[in-house]
Amino acid sequence: MKKIDAIIRPSALRSVLDGLSSVGYSGVTVTEVQGHGTQKGITESYRGQNVESLLPKLQLSVVVNDKKINKVIEILIMTARTGEIGDGKIFVSPVTNAIRIRTGEKGDKAI
Ligand SMILES: Nc1ncnc2c1ncn2[C@@H]1O[C@H](COP(=O)(O)OP(=O)(O)OP(=O)(O)O)[C@@H](O)[C@H]1O
Ligand SMILES: [Mg+2]
Repeated sequence: MKKIDAIIRPSALRSVLDGLSSVGYSGVTVTEVQGHGTQKGITESYRGQNVESLLPKLQLSVVVNDKKINKVIEILIMTARTGEIGDGKIFVSPVTNAIRIRTGEKGDKAI
């Protein structure tokens, strides 16, 4: 199992979730976050100087079976990309276990 944390533009949420549905994911956690990438969120000018700022983004966390990982990443790129700076980033990390609280099922059966 892998956890995919995707930081995306808030405006991309609907198309990303629609895209993920086509792969058949079973759950997602969406968190409102603030962040900046390499441009340091510089968007505004203050007394003639560009100032660093944090921009609102959404973080989507999805835990998926290893077999789905490439497909999910492909869908995320397709649905979250505008081609402009700030489209976001995808981080992938290993997950050692998952447990469905209601049934006690573990591992792939629990996701
Ligand atoms: N190295 C990182 N670690 C943690 N979060 C990051 C990292 N890089 C980007 N992020 C998060 O992703 C958001 C979007 O990043 P962004 O798309 O601007 O990355 P970038 O590397 O600057 O690429 P681009 O040049 O396309 O803008 C940031 O606001 C931040 O929340
Ligand atoms: Mg950037």
